[in-house]
Order: sequence, then structure tokens, then C-alpha cells
Amino acid sequence: MLHIRGGTVVTAERTLRADILCDEAGLIAQIGPDLETPAGYEVVEAGGLLVMPGGIDPHTHMEMPFMGTIATDDFYTGTAAGLAGGTTSILDFVIPGAGRTLLDSWRAWRDKADKAAADYGFHVAITHWDDQVHQDMETLVTSCGVNSFKHFMAYKNALMVEDEAFLHSMRRAGELGAICTVHAENGDAVAYLQKDLLAQGRTGPEAHPLSRPPSVEGEATQRAITLAGLLGVPIYVVHVSTEEATNAIAQARMNGQEVYGEVLPQHLVFDDQVYTASDWLKAARYVMSPPFRPAHHQKALWGGLMSGQLHTTATDHCCFCKEQKEAGLNDFTRIPNGTPGIEDRMSVLWHHGVATGKLTPEQFVALTSTNTARIFNMYPRKGALAVGADADIVLWDPTGTRTISAATHHQNVDYNIYEGMTVTGIARKTISNGKVVWDNGDLRAVRGAGRYLERPTYKRQPRYPL
Ligand code: URP
Ligand code: ZN
Ligand code: ZN
Ligand code: ZN
Repeated sequence: MLHIRGGTVVTAERTLRADILCDEAGLIAQIGPDLETPAGYEVVEAGGLLVMPGGIDPHTHMEMPFMGTIATDDFYTGTAAGLAGGTTSILDFVIPGAGRTLLDSWRAWRDKADKAAADYGFHVAITHWDDQVHQDMETLVTSCGVNSFKHFMAYKNALMVEDEAFLHSMRRAGELGAICTVHAENGDAVAYLQKDLLAQGRTGPEAHPLSRPPSVEGEATQRAITLAGLLGVPIYVVHVSTEEATNAIAQARMNGQEVYGEVLPQHLVFDDQVYTASDWLKAARYVMSPPFRPAHHQKALWGGLMSGQLHTTATDHCCFCKEQKEAGLNDFTRIPNGTPGIEDRMSVLWHHGVATGKLTPEQFVALTSTNTARIFNMYPRKGALAVGADADIVLWDPTGTRTISAATHHQNVDYNIYEGMTVTGIARKTISNGKVVWDNGDLRAVRGAGRYLERPTYKRQPRYPL
């Protein structure tokens, strides 16, 4: 039981001086100025700090089997690293393997995630269509607490879903009161360009962005929006990285369509120069999809976040070490796609967004936590500082600094994409379900303390308007 005393509470709506009491059940019991410390409560001094809802990362891949290997951060190490950076919940992806049903896969992911140190929920990927999928989607929504499904328009001959299956899935999700999310890149075009580049002898990581140019994402984003519009269902576009995709989302929203967009901090701060490193490994470590873009795209992404046309920030946290990246030494199409970052999302967004004046602290809370909670129907249990909400809280030092490095990070991976970046804005303490789990450098994550988040459908609990 905690008394968070003397801090400045910041939510997506407002900033005020208030104390917070967290009760025995791990819930917020009271918020108000100058509260008395009840008997048995521990005082947590928050003077000079901002008290904000814990971050929610809506896009992670812990121990994901992908491209012939398995991502190295597991549900324990990855969520623990998140806690060190102020993130108290994640939404990860159930990826059904070949021949496995959605339900079997969901169960397998529940088992894997048992060791999580922070709360977690799942989006479930739809990679093909048949009657079993139609049926399992209903079971997942009604009995398993899943209210979102994922579609990869890229990764041909692996995870890619054809438009017809995507349409079936979107209609079914709409019937069930769930939301569809999409990785929007034209997978056929990518496969075609990859083959071309390899035939030209372009085998290094510098060919990766050439195989997935911005127009490939722009086309797929527009196509996903068009297909969702045909059915009148909402759609959430993950890892938006281009001006074209941002504009397609903004235009659709102005036409009255319910479209959401997610941004990764790495796309806000790195451009395609990362692929020109003469050191193969240095460049390969930035191989992810969509790739890093020419710098002008960053301006569009910031504009989308500032204007409210883009809604959430995620990491797409997906860790592969040196030996794993080296599977693509002679062929860039075999470099496992993915970059780490769950520990640094909030600091990088504060430093480059709030400290530069692009975003207000309230927008920061919306973009790191509240909007995700609303879109994926976890609000106000998550994403809010309110009586009755889960006591997931970060005590943020807006002027504290740290230099990011793989030598000191908690992620289970042998590099950090932000290596050497000094950021202003750091998590001093993180509270998860009423317990202090990060205390100024002391990580007290508890294996298995994370709980599975059952997310109801939008029918049973109408969506909070954005
Ligand atoms: O390169 C990436 N993003 N790897 C993870 C899978 C995905 O596309 O999200
Ligand atoms: Zn159907
Ligand atoms: Zn993706
Ligand atoms: Zn992803």
C-alpha cells in the first residue's frame, strides 16, 4: 500500500498537484491534494516528479518464432526491461504456426507469457481463412478476452494474408465487436523487388530499404483503409513509417472513417542512413520492416502525432542477436527483421517530443498510454489515473538524463539501436499493480507477477470516443 506524495499528476486531460493512494488490491484508492498517510501505507516521495499512467506498448514480439529463429527477449526479460523504462503493460501477438489453430496458438502463448513481470494481452494473427478460423475468432472474442486481430500484408509465403482472407476476417471481427490491425506493406511487390535486387548482386543490408520503398507501404495502407471502408469496420495501422501512409490515414479520418495509426520512436529518430554503415552487422541490426526512411518522412510522422491523426506509440520490440542477424550475411532477405526498444520508448519520445516542444506532457501520456487503452478497450482500468484503476504508475523525472547503452540496458539482446544517445526524461520509479518494481536503477521485477488482460468487445462496453 503506497502513498505517492507531493508529485504533479499528469493525465491525457490535465495536470494537477495531487497525492495518490494505492490500496492492498493494487488499485488506485484516492487522488487529491495533501492526503493523510493511512496506517500501514509506505510513503513514496514524488516531489519534483510527474506522476503519470504507466506506459502501454501495444506492439511487442516476445520470444517470437520468426524467419527461422526466435526473438531473444522472452516474456519475463522483455516485460522487466519495459518496467525499467516506465512501461507497465504490453500487447503482444499470437502468431499461429503452420497447421496450428488460432485457439491452440493462443493457449501456447498464454503458457509462454506466464512468466511475464508486467500485465499483458494478445492480438491474434489471421494468416489464412477457413471455417475453423471463422469459428475460433468467435471463441477468442467471447471466451478468451481477445478483441483485436492482426493481419500481415507483407512476408509473402510466411505470414502474409491475401486480400480475400483479410476481408473475411475484417467482416467477422466487425460482427464480433473486435478491431483489426494491419502491417501494411505490399508483400508481392516486396518479394518481387527482393528477387530483382538479389539477381543484381545486391545482397547487403543496404538493399533492404530498396526492397520496401515508401510507396509499397503507401499503397498497402490505402488498400487496407479501402477494404475496411467497404465493410464499414474500424482499422488500426501498425508501425506507420511514411508520409504516404500518414496522409492516407489522415484523409480517411477526415472522410469520417475510423482509422488509427501507430508510430515507433525509432522511425521518428533514425533515417535510412543507418543502412550505409560499412560494418555489415551495424547496418543489419537496423533491418526491420518497414525500414528506416529518408528523413523527410519523420516530419510527417511528428505532424501526425502532434495533430492527433496518429494515435499511439509502440516499439515492435523484436530482439535478434549477432548470430541470428548473421543468418543473412550473404542475403539480406534472410536477416531476421526486428529491432529492440521497449525500455527506451518513453524516454526517446519525451526527449525528442516533449523536451523539444513538439508535444505537451498531456499528449505524451495520451500517446504512450491512454490512447492505446481506449482503442483496445482497456480504459479506464489502464491508461488512467483514476479511483478504481489499476495502480500502474510511472514517476517521471522530466529533467533527469541518462545515456542509453547495451552495457546497462535490461533487454536480453546484445545491442541497443539508441546506443550513446543521451536522453532527458527518465522513469525514476515504476509502480505495477501497486508495487514499486523500478526504483531509480534498482529493478525489482517479479517473474510471473504480470496478469493476462482480458479485453472485452466493443459491443459489451462502448468505446470511449477519442
Ligand atoms: O521487422 C519487424 N517489424 N519485425 C517484427 C514483425 C513485424 O513486422 O512486426
Ligand atoms: Zn464469414
Ligand atoms: Zn510488422
Ligand atoms: Zn511487429
